[in-house]
Amino acid sequence: MAKTFHIKSYGCQMNAYDSARMADILAGLGYRATARAETADLVLINTCHIREKADDKLYSDLGRLGLLKAERRAAGGDLTIAVAGCVAQAEGEELLRRQPAIDLVVGPQSYHRLPAMLAENGRARIETDFPPEPKFDRLPPPGRRGLSAYLAVQEGCDKFCSFCVVPYTRGAEYSRPVAAVEDEARRLIDQGALEITLLGQNVNAYHGAAGDGGVAGLGALIRRLALLPGLKRIRYTTSHPGDMDDDLIRAHAEEPKLMPFLHLPVQSGSDRVLAAMNRRHTAADYLRQVERLRRARPDLALSSDFIVGHPGETEADFQATLDLVAAVGFAQAYSFKYSPRPGTPAAAREDQISAVAKDERLVRLNALIQSQQQAFNRGFVGRPLEVLFDRPGRHPGQRIGRSPYMQSVHATIAAPGLVEVEIAGIGPVSLAGVPIGAGAERAA
Ligand code: 5AD
Ligand code: SF4
Repeated sequence: MAKTFHIKSYGCQMNAYDSARMADILAGLGYRATARAETADLVLINTCHIREKADDKLYSDLGRLGLLKAERRAAGGDLTIAVAGCVAQAEGEELLRRQPAIDLVVGPQSYHRLPAMLAENGRARIETDFPPEPKFDRLPPPGRRGLSAYLAVQEGCDKFCSFCVVPYTRGAEYSRPVAAVEDEARRLIDQGALEITLLGQNVNAYHGAAGDGGVAGLGALIRRLALLPGLKRIRYTTSHPGDMDDDLIRAHAEEPKLMPFLHLPVQSGSDRVLAAMNRRHTAADYLRQVERLRRARPDLALSSDFIVGHPGETEADFQATLDLVAAVGFAQAYSFKYSPRPGTPAAAREDQISAVAKDERLVRLNALIQSQQQAFNRGFVGRPLEVLFDRPGRHPGQRIGRSPYMQSVHATIAAPGLVEVEIAGIGPVSLAGVPIGAGAERAA
């Protein structure tokens, strides 16, 4: 009987992409996917190291898996436990010391070596170097992903923001060649993808080798992919405000397949904190980028990431963040309490902010962001929106999808796909739609 695997994926979209690629590798080795750890021969946890909470979850998972493995062994069976992702990269040996039941530890740049690691039968337990050969060239073609697919075009980061582990866990910036990206996009489209989200830790720093011996930026890459028949929507994430070049901004004006939504993290609205964060831009720089983007695409919906309570952040600094949010008007945004990460410069600072102050600032920032999100969504009531319905909803017959502006929309739709709906109402985080036009005939 075929061996089975179960992957539990934490963290960002890049981790989701890596998990899907690791599933491709395992399928190529004859493994079959299973929905639960309890029925798997191999359990792989793809970990996130970005904030402390994600780490805590890993160790509780590992505790449970350790017990499961002991039970299996007592009954004459076995369980292989693999840890991948950014914690694997950051902690390596330490993971094995803390949880000896682990069989394999594999970093985000080494998982193309999984087949060899599994074949070595427990001897090659750790692979966390940054191998000279790009892993992408060694991966099997992507399997079926559904209507909306991720495609990694860039990895790593050279920015070294004070708080962030990414430059240490994902390594230096690397861009895949245009031809490799196009090839993977074609395969995803052949298997049904209508939407592709281009991924990179710093995706707008993309500079991939072009066929003509030159280098293509992200704007040029998007234009190339937009030529692929069958592809309806293109998105990209995550971007740095300093890397929003003219060509990429022009692509927002000129390329109809590029969706009118941009996740552009700013982290703080205080120049003092931005400098301490080593962000290499001011609040005014960010507002200028927003202005350029909106001039190119007036209906662009903006999203961002914020950190409250970075070491040294005063009440006045935090107020500057609220002011920036008020000035921009976001369609959605994520805010996080600063979490010291071992090995990063901000973690070593002595002026850490109290947990109470962080909690209080987070509540205030979230309230403002939520009111902006509600206002943004309210503006769509009674208006038509084209939604890519790709997931089942909570109620029978209901499906959930994304609008061009990245809003979550639910409606009663018979089959998945792109459907025009009219927005009938808004909930706390999603919109309710009613199919119109050709979509109405497809409605259940
Ligand atoms: N503490 C809190 N939030 C963090 N992020 C990154 N590192 C930290 C940290 N140490 C947030 C940033 C980033 C998002 C992915 O996670 O806002 O944009
Ligand atoms: Fe981390 Fe993003 Fe800063 Fe790079 S640009 S160090 S990934 S927060």
